[in-house]
Amino acid sequence: MRVRSIRELKNIKNKRILLRVDFNVPISKSGKIDQNEDYRIVQTLPTIKYLLKKKAKVVILAHLGRPGGKVVESLRLDPVAIRLSQLLKKDIYKSDSIIDKDTLKNIDSLAGGNILMLENIRFDKREEKADKKFANELAGLGDIYVNDAFAVCHRDQASVSTIQNHLPAYAGLLLEDELKNLNSAVIKPFKPLTVIIGGAKISTKIKLIQRFLKISDHVLLGGALANTVLHVMGVSVGKSLVEPEMYPVIRKIKLTDNQLRVPVDGLLAKNYQAKTGRLDALADVRPDELILDIGPDTIKLYEKIIKSSKMIVWNGPMGLIETPFFAKGTESLIKILAKTKAYTVVGGGESVQVIRRLNLEKKFNFISTGGGAMLEFLEGKKLPGLKKILLTNK
Ligand code: 3PG
Repeated sequence: MRVRSIRELKNIKNKRILLRVDFNVPISKSGKIDQNEDYRIVQTLPTIKYLLKKKAKVVILAHLGRPGGKVVESLRLDPVAIRLSQLLKKDIYKSDSIIDKDTLKNIDSLAGGNILMLENIRFDKREEKADKKFANELAGLGDIYVNDAFAVCHRDQASVSTIQNHLPAYAGLLLEDELKNLNSAVIKPFKPLTVIIGGAKISTKIKLIQRFLKISDHVLLGGALANTVLHVMGVSVGKSLVEPEMYPVIRKIKLTDNQLRVPVDGLLAKNYQAKTGRLDALADVRPDELILDIGPDTIKLYEKIIKSSKMIVWNGPMGLIETPFFAKGTESLIKILAKTKAYTVVGGGESVQVIRRLNLEKKFNFISTGGGAMLEFLEGKKLPGLKKILLTNK
C-alpha cells in the first residue's frame, strides 16, 4: 500500500497546514465530552504533535453532528477545542466562524507551532455539497492539506475531498495507520481470518458479509442483524426486528456452510425497555419475545473459532448494549478478544465505547475511529477522502 504521508513533508516551519480531523464525538447535555467518548480526539494527537513540533501553523477543520448547513449553537466546536487543549496541555485558538474577514489575518499572525480551530465546517451548507468554490476558499487559508479524518473519508464533501483538487494533499499519521491496518485485513490477512459482524441492520452490512465470505475463513454474526439470517434459515425469532426486503439477498448466501455462523442461543425479553431477560436456545424463542443478546453457548462456539484464528476483524455489538444485562455478550466477546494472540482489528463507535468502559483498549492491536468509513473501506469501495492520498492499495 502506498500513501502520501506527512512524513514526506520537508521544512514545514511556519507553513499553514489545513488539518481535517474527525472530532464527531457525543457531547453531553451539559456541553462536555465524556472520557470514554474522546477516542477520536485522542487518536489524532500524534499527527497534531508531529506538526506542532515541526513548528507548522495548524488550522483545524472539523465537523460535529449534522447541522444541515445552519449555525446550531449546541453543535459549536468549543467543547471539542477545550478537550483537545486539555489533552495537548496547550492553549489553542478557536474561531467562532469558519471563514470571516479576519480569518486569513488570524492565521497569518499565528506563530509556528500553534493551533487555530475553525468553527463546525458543516455550518456552511456548501460543505456537504462538495462545493468547488467553498473548497477553493478553504484552500486559500493554507499551503498544505492534511487529512487525518478517516471516519469521514467516505463522504464526498468540500473539506474532505474537493479541497484535494486545490492544495497538495497528505495523510496524517492516524489516517495512515487506519489504512495500513484495514487494508491488511482485506489484501493480505493473517490466516485463518475470522470476521465478527454485529449491529442492528443487515442491510447496512450485507456487502461486508458478502465480501468477507470470499476472503475470510469464518464470518460470525451477532446483534439484531443476525435475526434476518436466522429467519431465512427457518429459525423462529419471535417479534425480533427483521428486514424482509433482505430475504432474497440472504437466500443467495450458502447458509448451510460452516463458514457463516449465527447465534445458537440468546437472552430474550418481551420489550426493548426490559432490564433483564431469560436465556434460551434460539429454537425456543416464543412469538412474543425479542432476541436482545447472544447467549453463553454462542459465546463458547465463537471463542473456539477465535482461538483458532490468526486475525480477527470485528464490527458492531452483539446485543442491546445500552442495557447492562444485554451488554454481556458483547463484553464477553471483548474479554475473549483481549486475550487472544490473534491480530485484532476493531471498529464502530459502540464497540469501542464498551472496550474503553472495560479498560481493555490496550489489548487490541488496532481500534478504528471509523464507523461508516470502516465499513465502506472494507467493502472495497473507493473513499472520496483518499483520492489524492491513497496511491495504491497493493
Ligand atoms: C461519523 O461519525 O461516522 C463521521 O463523522 C461521519 O458523520 P456523518 O455520518 O454525519 O457524515
